[in-house]
Amino acid sequence: MLPVLFFLATFVVASQGSEIGLSHQIHLLRPQSGSKGERIPGVSCLSWRLAVETHNIIGWTTVPKECEGYVGHYMLGQQYREDSKVVANEAIAYAQSLNITGGGKDVWVFDVDETTLSNLPYYAEHGFGAEPYNSTLFNAWVLEGKAPALPETQRLYKELLSLGIKVVFLTGRPESQREVTETDLKHVGFHTWEKLILKASSYIGKTAVVYKSTERTKLEKSGYKIIGNIGDQWSDLLGNHPGNRTFKLPDPMYYIS
Ligand SMILES: *[C@@H]1O[C@H](CO)[C@@H](O)[C@H](O)[C@H]1NC(C)=O
Ligand SMILES: *[C@@H]1O[C@H](CO)[C@@H](O)[C@H](O)[C@H]1NC(C)=O
Ligand SMILES: *[C@@H]1O[C@H](CO)[C@@H](O)[C@H](O)[C@H]1NC(C)=O
Ligand SMILES: [Mg+2]
Repeated sequence: MLPVLFFLATFVVASQGSEIGLSHQIHLLRPQSGSKGERIPGVSCLSWRLAVETHNIIGWTTVPKECEGYVGHYMLGQQYREDSKVVANEAIAYAQSLNITGGGKDVWVFDVDETTLSNLPYYAEHGFGAEPYNSTLFNAWVLEGKAPALPETQRLYKELLSLGIKVVFLTGRPESQREVTETDLKHVGFHTWEKLILKASSYIGKTAVVYKSTERTKLEKSGYKIIGNIGDQWSDLLGNHPGNRTFKLPDPMYYIS
């Protein structure tokens, strides 16, 4: 009975909003539910995902169990592709606006996993990030070299090359995975790059922010100008020499600091 009363009360207040001083609300709340007062499935997971993407929720280890289905639908449905398309379109428009003449030291930094190559086939079989990370299983997947390309990033990649902007891959994958990473990249159409930087063993125990900042600083010191940077993790984009503009791709499946 209570939810019904609440529903009615909300409705009455909403319809009288302008008369009783509620007109300054950004919008009047409407019930999200049917007569039973249940939440629409997925609404709270959407809030979780937004907080993750905006870096308000940080340091999380797994997707909340109740959001496994939500994240799965997001990743396998249209929305992930649509969201990625917006990012690529903005990055392309920015790159085109620069009037790069080519042949210079202008580079664009690309992360690899969930930016250039997709591990979605793996994650689809491992709870979309709701299962605890298992490095043995994940590395076995990487060594298969079967990760497909992210189509929207590939569109950006091709456009940058045609504009004369060089590409640098900067990945948290270890140096021991260089060969399989090169083969995989070439196999799915990322055939050329200025540098492919993998994580040297000297960085073991260091965060991705420290590792990637240090490597970007080295690039700038050797004369490269990082005009753009794209990644699925905030740790790809924070720290020193992030690039003139950064572009964050969606990734609600895992968090790397
Ligand atoms: C690039 O070229 C266009 C057309 O010539 C010009 O309108 C624009 O201001 C230029 N942008 C930059 C950043 O130089
Ligand atoms: C990772 O997966 C393997 C193979 O299923 C299993 O033997 C191992 O115990 C798992 N490791 C962890 C930390 O769960
Ligand atoms: C990038 O930023 C640097 C430092 O602010 C600036 O000097 C340079 O002109 C910028 N380059 C582009 C392509 O916007
Ligand atoms: Mg990544």
